[in-house]
Amino acid sequence: LIHQREYLSNGEMKTWDGPVHEVYSPICIKTENGLERKLIGSYPLGTAVEAAEALDAAVAAYNNGRGEWPTMGVAERIHCVEQFTGRMIEKKDIIVKLIMWEIGKSFADSVKEFDRTVEYIYATIDSLKNLDRDSSGFDIVDGIAAQVRRSPLGVVLCMGPFNYPLNETFTTLIPALIMGNTLLFKPPKFGTLLHYPLQEAFRDCFPKGVVNVIYGRGNTVVPGLMQSGKINVLTLIGSSKVANELKKSHPKVNRLRAVLGLDAKNAAIVTPDADLGLAVKEIITGSLSFNGQRCTALKIVWVHRSVADAFLEKFSAAVAELKFGMPWEKGVSLTPLPETNKIEYLTGCIADAEAHGAKVVNENGGKSEGSFFYPAVVYPVNSDMKLYHEEQFGPIVPVVPFDDLEETIEFLIESTHGQQVSIFSNNADEVASLIDPLVNQVSRVNINTQCQRGPDVFPFTGRKDSAEGTLSVPDAIRAFSIRSLVAFKMN
Ligand code: G3H
Repeated sequence: LIHQREYLSNGEMKTWDGPVHEVYSPICIKTENGLERKLIGSYPLGTAVEAAEALDAAVAAYNNGRGEWPTMGVAERIHCVEQFTGRMIEKKDIIVKLIMWEIGKSFADSVKEFDRTVEYIYATIDSLKNLDRDSSGFDIVDGIAAQVRRSPLGVVLCMGPFNYPLNETFTTLIPALIMGNTLLFKPPKFGTLLHYPLQEAFRDCFPKGVVNVIYGRGNTVVPGLMQSGKINVLTLIGSSKVANELKKSHPKVNRLRAVLGLDAKNAAIVTPDADLGLAVKEIITGSLSFNGQRCTALKIVWVHRSVADAFLEKFSAAVAELKFGMPWEKGVSLTPLPETNKIEYLTGCIADAEAHGAKVVNENGGKSEGSFFYPAVVYPVNSDMKLYHEEQFGPIVPVVPFDDLEETIEFLIESTHGQQVSIFSNNADEVASLIDPLVNQVSRVNINTQCQRGPDVFPFTGRKDSAEGTLSVPDAIRAFSIRSLVAFKMN
């Protein structure tokens, strides 16, 4: 049990004696009342008062760009981040354990999440060393010598998602930090405790007030921060509804930079010429890894009517092969769901689809026990159903039959989302004819492979309501800085 009572604010570990939030794991234990989520700890239920103190600390540490951190040389800032990363590596075991217990991610994927984060930090450092011609050398044009720099933007409010509570949080937090900004960091609702072991490292490796951690309910602690007008950058990996509300509440929204990774409804398109074996293999992990709780997950599958039966048979058989179990079990791919209301939501989506004429076509699909939900393959899905429009973010695979590829392009045009798409086809002319229309609807077109964020050096963004700004190793350091110039006349 981790009963966390300290929070990092203004360079100090402050002790909390107010109300706390109890953390229940999605991993259930058998009790006399049946399966119950296990209590694994608690953390401060901070209020707007502590959030405002943290804001003051971040504003003071930035000091309108005159603070120690924003004026520090790049090499020294890199050194601080390297020291922090070393301390983080020392905490690997406990952080991995907490990822498993807080969000139910398998041990293998929790280790992967940790290692990917460390690799991301080192890649960010390398990228910063090589960025543009920043802070190195001068260009002389028309008798004017100019040094291009990358300057920080100010105070960053950083919020990551529950599904990658360490990795995706750090894909914004580290670039924001290393570029000289000061930070308010609110850990995700599920995945808060795992940040606890890092607080002292933040305190020891960065100047006072550069990193401040905020605990408490989002709707209590965040609105005041935005309304203060003192946040220069909002970075959130989460829902577009929340992002829009937060942006709107900022009094000088035209001066706010937003770096956002938001909702997605990525589609797979399986054409008559697809290699069905390959399509099934890719779509299984594309739609169901980490129980479908990935923004990049395939959340709707379009299959040409002529191959729909064959696809469904192979796909359902592949679902039946997936192993359910506790996160620490070997080879497990389906694990308990952290969101407490999720099973009710998913069950409702299935009932809605059935009421509009679809069926669950795989054995046991949609059954649940405790916080486990058995993946459901639902067919034939159409535009009257929730599963056609909503981002289910869970283990349901809606399958839509189509006759003409134009229907799939129309779906993407009409969608409010625009992250990625996967085409499965062995017909080169057909693929070539789809790339241009599709790449103008989404930010990544995958051919004969699933949707995903990585490799982390590839640009990661989205169109429409799916993103703002681009996150990748080289892009993120640009997103959290501005190119500025020192120019002088040569005589
Ligand atoms: O949840 C959204 C993540 O960006 C997904 O990342 O494709 O590496 O699993 P991933």
